[in-house]
Amino acid sequence: MTTPAGYTRTQIALHWIAALLILQQYLFKDAMSAAWEAFGDGLETAFDPLVLAHVAGGGLVLLFALWRLAIRRQRGAPAIVGESAVQRMLATLTHLGLYALMILMPVSGSVAWFGGVEAAAQGHSLLKIALLALVALHVAGALWHQFVLKDGLIARMRRAEG
Ligand code: HEM
Ligand code: HEM
Repeated sequence: MTTPAGYTRTQIALHWIAALLILQQYLFKDAMSAAWEAFGDGLETAFDPLVLAHVAGGGLVLLFALWRLAIRRQRGAPAIVGESAVQRMLATLTHLGLYALMILMPVSGSVAWFGGVEAAAQGHSLLKIALLALVALHVAGALWHQFVLKDGLIARMRRAEG
């Protein structure tokens, strides 16, 4: 398989939509936590659009991650850039971890919500920290490329190529 020069429009759109969806999962998480607590206490809760947004938004993150992995498998992804082998390895591992968490977060959340499994909710709450940490590392890496290495890496996620 030849290595493409850049990401496609679809890959780029899916990247940014997923990032926005993940942001809203964190910003509006309190509604979901409150609904889960009420469920644990056996209480009836009124319909809350923020709970629906959490379930549907998380579901879309899963769908988009699988779609992106399918595109990667079919056409590949541009080569990882970096100053050293260690840096490229770190970037590869970060991307791998982000994909894994974009799958594990919705799966653990769904098992908790639809299956009523407390352990899955605990896993979900632990994984949210790992996802946040990896996103922070990922953004720090992107800014490092942009402002220290000045290799214009962020442009790869802005303009489609190849
Ligand atoms: C990428 C996808 C997702 C992200 C980033 C995410 C993120 C979060 C965050 C940050 C919390 C608050 C946890 C806490 O305060 O300890 C939470 C709670 C929760 N989420 Fe998600 N979520 C995602 C997908 C889903 C999906 C698809 C469902 C269900 C269908 C779901 C069900 C829940 C439940 C039941 C809770 C309450 C758990 C608790 O407070 O212990 N999540 N989620
Ligand atoms: C929740 C937020 C985010 C997630 C889950 C995420 C996830 C990912 C993943 C999995 C890739 C690898 C794509 C592939 O090769 O298939 C990627 C690439 C990339 N992301 Fe993000 N991202 C997020 C936010 C951001 C933000 C805020 C920025 C900018 C500051 C950014 C900039 C980039 C860039 C420039 C690439 C391309 C790297 C390269 O070509 O080697 N991402 N992102």
